[in-house]
Amino acid sequence: MIPGISRMLIAQVLLIVSIAARAFVLSAQTSERPARWIAPAEAATRANPLSERAAIVAGGRKLFHGRCAACHGDDGQGTSKGPNLGAAYVQGQTDGALFWKITQGNTRTGMPTFSFLPAPQRWQLVLHLRELRRKSAASSSREDDSRCAAANPFCP
Ligand code: HEC
Repeated sequence: MIPGISRMLIAQVLLIVSIAARAFVLSAQTSERPARWIAPAEAATRANPLSERAAIVAGGRKLFHGRCAACHGDDGQGTSKGPNLGAAYVQGQTDGALFWKITQGNTRTGMPTFSFLPAPQRWQLVLHLRELRRKSAASSSREDDSRCAAANPFCP
């Protein structure tokens, strides 16, 4: 009787250990950084509450020059410290996704968090980023992407 029970016990312990090991391997895999920086769905679907009134857009431009241009360049074209924000892979993201990235930052790669700015100012910045897109619109953002990829490590 006793040996039978202990064999069952050993089998159960082995089962539990193997489940735990699997869970550990899975969690190690999921905690790795995703290859690309992607906003979660609930953040990406938020719409910009601000309308494109001239005064609001102008405010966004001013904020951008004060807080972002040092890394992203005066026209958002990118520098050695930050990527081109007119590039197709950036402009292809939703307003909500850009708002989320400005809010969170990605401190490991050098993008600071701007959660300390009031939310309307962060949305203003998103409006300004869209203005950058219009500026660089015809000048082929595909080209921007390849130039970006050649110039710095932030590109897809
Ligand atoms: C200290 C330098 C620095 C400053 C200042 C900075 N950024 Fe960035 N930014 C970066 C870097 C580096 C990345 C690339 C991060 C990555 O891909 O992981 C980035 C990425 C981004 C992205 C995401 C692009 C993508 O990959 O989708 C947006 C949007 C952005 N910045 C907007 C802004 C705005 C708006 C400001 C000003 C409020 C700002 N940044 C200020 C360095 C900076």
